[in-house]
Amino acid sequence: MEQQLQGLKAEALEKIAAAANVKQLNEVRVAYLGKKGPITDLLKGMGKLPAEERPKMGALVNVVREEVTTELESRMAILEEQATREKLQKETIDITLPGRPVNVGNAHPLTRVVEEIEDLFLSMGYEIAEGPEVEKDYYNFEALNLPKGHPARDMQDSFYITDDVLLRTHTSPVQARTMIEKKGQPFKIICPGKVYRRDSDDATHSHQFTQIEGLVVGEDIRMSDLKGTLSLFAKKMFGDDREIRLRPSFFPFTEPSVEMDISCFKCGGEGCNVCKKTGWIEILGAGMVHPNVLEMAGYDSKRLTGFAFGMGPERIAMLKYGVEDIRHFYTNDTRFLQQFLRTEL
Ligand code: PHE
Repeated sequence: MEQQLQGLKAEALEKIAAAANVKQLNEVRVAYLGKKGPITDLLKGMGKLPAEERPKMGALVNVVREEVTTELESRMAILEEQATREKLQKETIDITLPGRPVNVGNAHPLTRVVEEIEDLFLSMGYEIAEGPEVEKDYYNFEALNLPKGHPARDMQDSFYITDDVLLRTHTSPVQARTMIEKKGQPFKIICPGKVYRRDSDDATHSHQFTQIEGLVVGEDIRMSDLKGTLSLFAKKMFGDDREIRLRPSFFPFTEPSVEMDISCFKCGGEGCNVCKKTGWIEILGAGMVHPNVLEMAGYDSKRLTGFAFGMGPERIAMLKYGVEDIRHFYTNDTRFLQQFLRTEL
């Protein structure tokens, strides 16, 4: 029996040494040390031995079992480590491989123009106001001195939702809304936003576009304040040597009303294709707030006066960046938009 035991031990140790991986080694464990293995069988067979031999044999079997177990454990440690190493090697990342490029987006050119203008007016103490795009006829027209049936309404044909609700045709309704909110107090605001007109789309017209409204109401606000503000704006947006020129115009909500031109930033006034050989470029409409507009919003037009202006960021962006078709801003052609990615505007 002792011989049998030594033979089993040698066999087990040989198989342990030969096991190439954790799985094979586990098979060896089950085969030799398991409940149905030969070593367990030997222990079970001890009953047949003469009583005086049993303790010696029992001890021997246990020693062999210990030895096999120890050997198995140390081999197991080696194989496990080897398995981990192989796994790690398989999973290594080659950090020298070039990465996948990430597309970095950029602000839309119109957003840039609007933000630039916002920054300028914020720096002069203006607040930014907002109003609804779906607007009441009252704010879009009536409160701006354009009663129902006024001929000037024809200049701004709109999309009507009901007889009294429409998509706003300009940002001027925010003038009336803000005055009502400010309850007779002085203030300075600009209001950027989308506006809508029933127009056929072409290179210079769009049924939806953006505007920025400006409104200052206070004591002793004069035409010269408007002129100074617009002059500063023109220089900031189009270069320090810009001159401005005010031409008489008409808006029902301002009196007097003007159109502002800037001296051509391309030719400096000589006459070129940008200014259509006139030396001047039309930029925006403006004027002194009509007393009726102030009164309708609860302001005492004898005590407070104001100026207002309205401009189109599309037009400004087209001039500034040489964009020839307004539709480029809305068609989401990334080739157009990406041109504004790397250029320092
Ligand atoms: N709301 C006018 C327009 O859209 C522009 C404007 C605003 C004119 C404020 C004067 C004062 O044409």
